[in-house]
Amino acid sequence: MNSRFVLALVLSWAALLPGLVSADTVWLDDLNLAAATQGYGEPKKNLSVSDQPLAIGGKKFERGFGTHADGLLKINLDGAAQKFSVSVGVDDDVKGNAEASIEFIVVGDGKQLWRSGTMRAGDAAKVCEVDLSGVKLLKLQVTDAGDGMSWDHADWADAKFETAGGKISATGGEEKPAPVAPYILTPAAPATPRINGANVFGVRPGSPFLFTIPATGERPMKFSAKNLPSGLKLDAKTGRITGALKTKGEFTVTLRAKNSLGTAEKKFRIVCGDQIALTPPMGWNSWNCFAGAVSADRVKRAANALVKSGLVNHGWTYINVDDFWENHRNSKDKTLQGPFRDTNGFIVPNVRFPDMKGLADYVHGLGLKIGLYSSPGPWTCGGCAASWQHEQQDAQTYAKWGFDYLKYDWCSYGEVASGGNPDAKDIPLWGKTATNDAGAIYPYTVMGKFLREQKRDIVFSLCQYGMADVWKWGGSVNGNCWRTTGDIVDTWKSMSGIGFRQDKAAPFAKPGNWNDPDMLIVGEVGWGRTHPTRLTTDEQYTHISLWCLLASPLLIGCDMEKFDDFTLNLLSNDEVLAVDQDELGREATCVITAGDVRIYERPLADGSQAVGFFNLGAKPVELQFGEFAKLGLVGKQTVRDLWRQKNVATVDVAKDALPLTIPGHGVVLYKFTTAK
Ligand code: GLA
Repeated sequence: MNSRFVLALVLSWAALLPGLVSADTVWLDDLNLAAATQGYGEPKKNLSVSDQPLAIGGKKFERGFGTHADGLLKINLDGAAQKFSVSVGVDDDVKGNAEASIEFIVVGDGKQLWRSGTMRAGDAAKVCEVDLSGVKLLKLQVTDAGDGMSWDHADWADAKFETAGGKISATGGEEKPAPVAPYILTPAAPATPRINGANVFGVRPGSPFLFTIPATGERPMKFSAKNLPSGLKLDAKTGRITGALKTKGEFTVTLRAKNSLGTAEKKFRIVCGDQIALTPPMGWNSWNCFAGAVSADRVKRAANALVKSGLVNHGWTYINVDDFWENHRNSKDKTLQGPFRDTNGFIVPNVRFPDMKGLADYVHGLGLKIGLYSSPGPWTCGGCAASWQHEQQDAQTYAKWGFDYLKYDWCSYGEVASGGNPDAKDIPLWGKTATNDAGAIYPYTVMGKFLREQKRDIVFSLCQYGMADVWKWGGSVNGNCWRTTGDIVDTWKSMSGIGFRQDKAAPFAKPGNWNDPDMLIVGEVGWGRTHPTRLTTDEQYTHISLWCLLASPLLIGCDMEKFDDFTLNLLSNDEVLAVDQDELGREATCVITAGDVRIYERPLADGSQAVGFFNLGAKPVELQFGEFAKLGLVGKQTVRDLWRQKNVATVDVAKDALPLTIPGHGVVLYKFTTAK
């Protein structure tokens, strides 16, 4: 037999008995990984999501797919593959960060074939081998294991298919809604005066008072106030109320705004007592756009933009400087180099912030307030000087400069916790998670006390990602708001993953104490290099509606010099913002789940209910809503579309149904008021 004949014979047997021949290997990293969707960063071939060589639990891998929770890659096998094998785990590039936790799931034709269980930083890789005989569509999923997606760097290492020929191709990731061009729902504010914003304002006795009456309408406008308590004065031209109240008490004031076209009036409650932030703080923070590139000049420009854009007339107030106003421990950037503290231990800002008091005066001069950032450890999350062992001096310094808000992080506290903190033994080094509740609470007790001692109202914002159920004790350490999650990014997965998981903290929200699902990600965002938000049009309506229902602090995260009309429309709808600022201070919870639909309800001070009908699916949903009883609604209800600011129906809840069309990843936001 000649050799050609032998080969032909073998090949023909092989065709009959595919299982007997040695299979071809197709590497996962040779497929089009760009088809994957993930919660952060880009899909990486043979590298981790942050461009490091793949490594899990100390073991290096040459090949594989570096991704991030929540992630999905769909692969068309068409029955061609026989076996899939892979080593999975958290990439070592997260450097032991305790917040990293991931689960890997392999699904074939809708059936779960394998799941890893929760994996954490440093865990040895788990090996998965699954039989794919007959499977047409394979899904490789990475979830955040239920705790938010901070640091969830996920590796599918050494991932390969064995096939007997045929084509294997990556076909996509998470289904996305069809693109929809931005559409504006917020009606333009009338030229006649209208007073917007919260109905109540808290101040402590003796603290400098600053409140700018937010009013839309043609300028010039003349402001006045009836029953303004003594100690306060109103500037008729700017609408700014300043001064101080000596003693505790509650005062109902009538605010009035007048222009050539008419007059508006509004009842406004001033509560002088122990509690501030009686409605969630509204403003801007530098992090989501400028990150480590913030400067005093950029902060001033942001303050100007808040005024020029007109947002100040809708209640937006705070201009908050995040990390990187301090000097850095080892940056090569000259503007971050310099002493951390002076010889007496007082913090020294970096050269980008040459005059902190001047900056605060500038922002106050626009009728706005100003905030700052620090951490209880020696270093902030960005590696700049923080407040460790200088808490009292720092609180004094912030007050002396004239700051009105402090965001207080966690990073690096674990490194030093045992010195001075009796409960710190279980706090991991540099990690963001404390396993010991008392240890997690302690540093906030310290700073909370020193802030309180200042003769200034400083909103205290805890940024420790929800550790030790912060919502249960944040108020007791003088906290006014507290992050309940890791950092948000401008993706649907991130925003919806955070926003729709707030129910357990919700019962703890009340005037002065707010759950904070992190800052807004509409407009030009990007942590140093900005781009238009990656949220779709409807996802942005969902974001703002949900955050308002959740009584969340509203901190704009974009470059405000680059506002477009659509973004302004999102941030200037007074009826939507009024839900956030409602003085009852109740946070919405999810009352109905049906398929992809989530219905959130928030009781409002006037007895009405704000209801968000959300669609988590990519395709529009049409429904006839009739479950009014679950919303506690009775009798005849007037239904108002808050985004469009108009009544759309009157329903008799006993017999009517309300037709709803909810866009993919979108929302319908209604208010139900008992009809007269
Ligand atoms: C943490 C916070 C962010 C930001 C950065 C600054 O990650 O969660 O909001 O403040 O630190 O370094």
